[in-house]
Amino acid sequence: MVNKKRVILILLLALVLVLPILVTKNVPGSFLESSGENEPETKVSIGSPNGKVNLNFHLSDDGTPHYQLSYNGVTLIKPSSLGFQFKDQKPLNGDFEIVKTSTESFNNTWEPVWGEKDKIKNHYEQVTIYLKEKEPPNRKMNLVFRVYDDGVGFRYILPKQGSLGNNIEIISEDTEFQFANNHTSWWIPNDWDSYEYNYKETPLSEVKEVSTPFTMKTPQGIHLTVHEAALIDYAGMALKSVEGEEEYTLISTLAPWPNSNVKVKKDSFPIKTPWRTIQVGEDAGDLVESDMILNLNEPNALEDTSWIKPMKYVGIWWEMHIGKSTWGSGPKHGATTENAKQYIDFAYEYLDSENQNIGLLVEGWNEGWDGDWTQNGDVFNFTKSYPDFNLKEVVEYAAQHGVEYIAHNETSGDIQNYEDQMDKAYDLYQKLGINAIKSGYVADNGMKDPAGQHHHGQYMVNHYLEAVKKAAEHEIMINTHEPIKATGIYRTYPNWMSREGVMGMEYNAWSKGSPPEHLTILPFTRMMAGPIDYNPGIFDVQIANKPNNRVHTTRAQQLALYVTITSGTQMVTDLPSNYKDEDGNILPEFKFIKDVPVTWDDIMVPNAEIGDYVTVVRRSGKEWYIGSTTDEHARNLDIELSFLDNDQKYVAEIYSDDPGADWETNPNSVSIDTVIVDAKDTIVASLAAGGGQAVRIYPASEEEIATLPNYTISE
Ligand code: NOJ
Ligand code: CA
Repeated sequence: MVNKKRVILILLLALVLVLPILVTKNVPGSFLESSGENEPETKVSIGSPNGKVNLNFHLSDDGTPHYQLSYNGVTLIKPSSLGFQFKDQKPLNGDFEIVKTSTESFNNTWEPVWGEKDKIKNHYEQVTIYLKEKEPPNRKMNLVFRVYDDGVGFRYILPKQGSLGNNIEIISEDTEFQFANNHTSWWIPNDWDSYEYNYKETPLSEVKEVSTPFTMKTPQGIHLTVHEAALIDYAGMALKSVEGEEEYTLISTLAPWPNSNVKVKKDSFPIKTPWRTIQVGEDAGDLVESDMILNLNEPNALEDTSWIKPMKYVGIWWEMHIGKSTWGSGPKHGATTENAKQYIDFAYEYLDSENQNIGLLVEGWNEGWDGDWTQNGDVFNFTKSYPDFNLKEVVEYAAQHGVEYIAHNETSGDIQNYEDQMDKAYDLYQKLGINAIKSGYVADNGMKDPAGQHHHGQYMVNHYLEAVKKAAEHEIMINTHEPIKATGIYRTYPNWMSREGVMGMEYNAWSKGSPPEHLTILPFTRMMAGPIDYNPGIFDVQIANKPNNRVHTTRAQQLALYVTITSGTQMVTDLPSNYKDEDGNILPEFKFIKDVPVTWDDIMVPNAEIGDYVTVVRRSGKEWYIGSTTDEHARNLDIELSFLDNDQKYVAEIYSDDPGADWETNPNSVSIDTVIVDAKDTIVASLAAGGGQAVRIYPASEEEIATLPNYTISE
């Protein structure tokens, strides 16, 4: 009997010992694995809330920090090292021990001021690993890993410590990414001044140096994007291949200060790097639905946001790009008071500017455009208009018609000239009731003053954000062209409505432009960073005024872009006259542009193959919008409407490529069907080569149910 008791006791004891191990192995959260009783821990593991994303950290024998990443048991990143090199100090990248770790579980939901969703879930497991060099000078470095169901973000923190000195100059941040396979990759080259390139699709082994977001597909079909979040007071990061290393290894590289090997200068602590991010999705659509970049940014810093208004805008803009008018003064000057009023009238009449937020952009309104403005940034004046443009009169006329005036500030890369005038200009704009600026930084080889500062370097990273903060003080929204890439900062400063940082529509007006596949790649690459001012909505895709240039899509695809690409400020780009027929009547397909919202409550991506096609479904209140686009191949895509309420009938306004449409030979014919649909229907998007489909769905009235036909798939 005694023995029986003892057996039960031993069994119980064994259970108590084994249970925690069984549980920890399969649940999210982190645990330390110690390699022996008295040895310091050298390994840390942490899983995402659903347990699928797993991050392992270890110190190698020489004390070098390494992380590795897996998804559902598939290794995505093999052990990859972390560290820094400084000017006048030895590298901080080895000889470490783990002093301690701390963990945190976080789960809340927040509401963005505007954007792609009305509510965003921020749910992660975090571990902070406190490292210290074993030998003098015993410098400290902390690593924070935040593991989400849709990826991982990690950052370095250098705490205040005597052994690092007061001024630090970072020569290099050596964050390795040892990818497990020769993934298919979509990329643009890195040059520290521009992201305006067409994307290439190649095996990872052909990648040399690329900008982020950098997106890949693994042999298993898992998709991942490497980028950064909260790029603040630091240099922009690109990725370059490592010579002589294992085949598929990339390492971070930072934009330099002019004529220097210094990348980041710091004189206060703690130093926090931006988050290095790896977003993971089971398919390409998961990437687009991910909120990780925003979640890694700080909450909204602005107390009052009532003046922030996402909007569509028209503009004296495309007419310059297609050579109909000029920025500079003279007989073809585009920015005249009279011309501006015509755009306002158009917005009032056809975009219902009294009831929705509509802006008017006027480029070439201010002095400085004459001569070669790309070289003469120092003569731009941001408060003085050309004599044929009366700023006050135009702003007032706009206001009377419910239109917001958007001031254009092209700096041409003369930051000194701009900063000298910024206070005065922003004061004037605020006084006049101007609530929005589109800024520009055309400077192909870096800034003119201070000379050589790169668009993506620390100096400019700070300038762009300072401009946004100053604008906020004046209740002004900003849309930046030639920007630093987006890294989710619009969560913190929601007046940063949009930015370029992309080969946008304008390239089609004066160069070979972008091939049809471009717009099936952007949602998974550039748009992983955030909103884009792409400038969609060209109806005259063959550009009558420019016989040798054209847009490489059908007109129906131009409509779909209002759904597949988001921006806090979305342009209605074409000339007003191109939205009308020969008799001056507005074209019926323009209704989609009028109806489509710019800020959304939800997003889904049911069809996605990068470089081939994409369908994005977005909700705004009770309405749904669907945009589908394809590359140069015609194809049919099924869109199940199961997201609709079950007990409700809806009207679907479907704008499709006409049968016979083709981006090259017959781009402009759009067919419109207005039908009744419900949750059991599947819409077939029949896309022409280079084509698209745009759909608006809203709850049907009794009358509409009685009079409109039900949806049937047309042959
Ligand atoms: C380049 C910008 O991308 C474009 O939108 C603008 O019209 C010109 N610069 C002139 O500022
Ligand atoms: Ca540009």
